[in-house]
Amino acid sequence: MQWYEDDSLWSDFAPTMFSPERAESVAGLVATSPLLDFPPGSRVLDLCCGPGLFLVPLAARGYDVTGVDLSAPMLERAREACERADAEVRLVREDMLTYTAPEAFDVVLNVFTSFGYFDDPDDNLRVLRNAWESLASGGQLLVDLMGKEVLAGWIGRPQAVDLPDGSYVVQRDVVLDSWRRLRTDWTLVRGDSARTASLTSYLYSAAELHDLFVTAGFADVECFGGFDGSAYDNHSRRLIVRGRRK
Ligand SMILES: C[S@@+](CC[C@H](N)C(=O)[O-])C[C@H]1O[C@@H](n2cnc3c(N)ncnc32)[C@H](O)[C@@H]1O
Repeated sequence: MQWYEDDSLWSDFAPTMFSPERAESVAGLVATSPLLDFPPGSRVLDLCCGPGLFLVPLAARGYDVTGVDLSAPMLERAREACERADAEVRLVREDMLTYTAPEAFDVVLNVFTSFGYFDDPDDNLRVLRNAWESLASGGQLLVDLMGKEVLAGWIGRPQAVDLPDGSYVVQRDVVLDSWRRLRTDWTLVRGDSARTASLTSYLYSAAELHDLFVTAGFADVECFGGFDGSAYDNHSRRLIVRGRRK
């Protein structure tokens, strides 16, 4: 089994990745982001939607929303979140490596570092090609992750996150293969037990991800430093790459 296929990883570490505080800040950024300002009724795919932090605010902004994820427990959480918010959202369990819906969407989003998971770099390119196929002419793909330049600024600092129930998560990052890939080791300490997990994914500089978009067939490729549409520079916390299907 590949690390990303382990449902228990996403569920066990959900309190750090999908906290109520993050849900609140995502709702704010979706409501106001110029990068997420599409015509009413736009067909938006959230690829690797997880428990749906983006789904509900995207639906609230008036879009026709679909979420795709490989993890059944994450999709169940997404279903519950949409039900609570009375948001109508289509949910599909599928692998991003194989999911395509030819010309079915105006926008494909892949956010919060949900890209670069496959060991074979051609498979990661295939995810971009799948997204290109799933877009109608003029449609756009946005990928949001931590750029290599940003990561280089803070990697090596030990990180610990305290959770409301008294447990905590310690994170260690290890650069692999001459900065091609990153392994993130997490340890969740709860009471007298500890649970560890390792995630390995490709790292991309802005130029590398830009060029991968171009190879996949995208035009008008641009890089941003956040959902506020700011430039990707030395102050950025995220790298967002956007490309258009002509
Ligand atoms: C870091 S989480 C991000 C979730 C969500 N985008 C967010 O902003 O909270 C990554 C998600 O990708 C899903 N995932 C991992 N590998 C996948 C694959 N091969 N195909 C589809 N989904 C996948 C996981 O189940 C998880 O929900």
